[in-house]
Amino acid sequence: MAKKLHIKTYGCQMNVYDSERIAEVLSPLGFEAVDDADGADMVILNTCHIREKAAEKVYSELGRLRVQKETLASQGKRMVLAVTGCVAQAEGEEVLKRAPFVDMVFGPQTYHRLPQMVAEATRATGQVLDTDFPEESKFDALPDNRTVDGATAFLAIQEGCDKFCTYCVVPYTRGAEYSRPAAQVLDEARKLVVAGAQEITFLGQNVNSYHGEAADGGEWNLARLIRAAAEIEGLERIRFTTSYPAEVDDDLIQAHGDVDKLMPYLHLPVQAGSDRVLKAMNRNHGVDEYRALVDKLRAARPDLALSSDFIVGFPGETDADFRATMKLIEDVTFIQAYSFKYSPRPGTPAALMDLQVDEAVKAERLAELQALLNAQTLAFNKQCVGKTMAVLLDRAGKKPGQLVGRSPYMQAVVVDAPEQLLNRIVDVTITSAGPNSLMGALNVDNRKACA
Ligand code: SAH
Ligand code: SF4
Ligand code: F3S
Repeated sequence: MAKKLHIKTYGCQMNVYDSERIAEVLSPLGFEAVDDADGADMVILNTCHIREKAAEKVYSELGRLRVQKETLASQGKRMVLAVTGCVAQAEGEEVLKRAPFVDMVFGPQTYHRLPQMVAEATRATGQVLDTDFPEESKFDALPDNRTVDGATAFLAIQEGCDKFCTYCVVPYTRGAEYSRPAAQVLDEARKLVVAGAQEITFLGQNVNSYHGEAADGGEWNLARLIRAAAEIEGLERIRFTTSYPAEVDDDLIQAHGDVDKLMPYLHLPVQAGSDRVLKAMNRNHGVDEYRALVDKLRAARPDLALSSDFIVGFPGETDADFRATMKLIEDVTFIQAYSFKYSPRPGTPAALMDLQVDEAVKAERLAELQALLNAQTLAFNKQCVGKTMAVLLDRAGKKPGQLVGRSPYMQAVVVDAPEQLLNRIVDVTITSAGPNSLMGALNVDNRKACA
């Protein structure tokens, strides 16, 4: 009988990808993924350490799961409880100390060893802790069957970070930068397409620092990899995230200009709009360089839409610095953004810097910044009304008879459409726009196609 596996995923898209791969590693052991932790034989929390709140969520979830585990134990049943992801990597020992009822703690680079770990954890009373950065790459050991839920898929091509921005834990939780060989990536991309993917998003902590080994012994950069992936028949859309602005090269800019399958949407985190703050963050570029990069990208692809990440209240950020960030946002315009109050992280240089900003000031700045960013999102969405867009319909809508999909710019578009159009790319004319989604009507040709 199949054992039930529940994976709860926090944090970034890399964790979403890892969770899928973890399920694939455990499937030959008889584990079947389920949506609910209730009644599961194994529960895995795939965690995020990026801000304090993210890490604390894990401990409160563990508290809830402890009750469930104990109830099952009183009925003579066993639930294996595991923690992986960036909290596991950053503070594995601490997890076992604060939550001694956890059976396994493993980092993001060791989950290909799960079969052994599960055997160890179920055999005796012992807990398993595996947070090495092993010599071998997990990608060489993972099963090579891939499954796709719907028509879009993530594909990790690069992992780790050598940039050491002074606020960030990722270089410590994910380790040094590693690029997968190009042939391995393309092989996985083909498998995803066979499994139904029409859109693939290449993932990496610094995806544009990709420099994978090529079959001829040389190296491919991200642009070269995108061009090769664009040749795959059946793959219609390519995206990539997250890019590090200081390393966007001319090849990548050019690819935005001439690779049709590359979507005109780019996540390009800038964090702040003040040179002083960017320097203290160790971002390796100034404000003018960012503006110049955006200009070059838009010269190559005039309809390129940008999204970004922002941190407010970095240590030493003055009101003038914050104004400079607001000015940058006004000038560049972003159609989507993630913004956060600076959160001091243990072990990072910024946590020890003088002039930490008051929480109330951070909250005020964040509210003002988000109001501007939200207004830009809404303005962009409204501009789309009356236009026709290619939408990849990849899920059911809230109301019967509706499907929801993504525009080239990643907007959610809700359409009245028959079920046969699920997982198809259709032309939609946008009829109205809100802050979070667009409404659209199917173009006549699409309706004919499914009649
Ligand atoms: N590699 C990506 C970002 C990874 S983390 C990049 O370099 O852009 C995702 C986002 O979390 C970051 O872009 C940043 O905006 C935010 N972040 C990271 N550390 C943070 C911290 N200590 N406090 C608040 N936000 C943080
Ligand atoms: Fe963190 Fe900076 Fe690396 Fe991005 S580039 S993951 S923000 S250290
Ligand atoms: Fe979080 Fe780790 Fe991703 S800290 S954002 S899950 S790389």
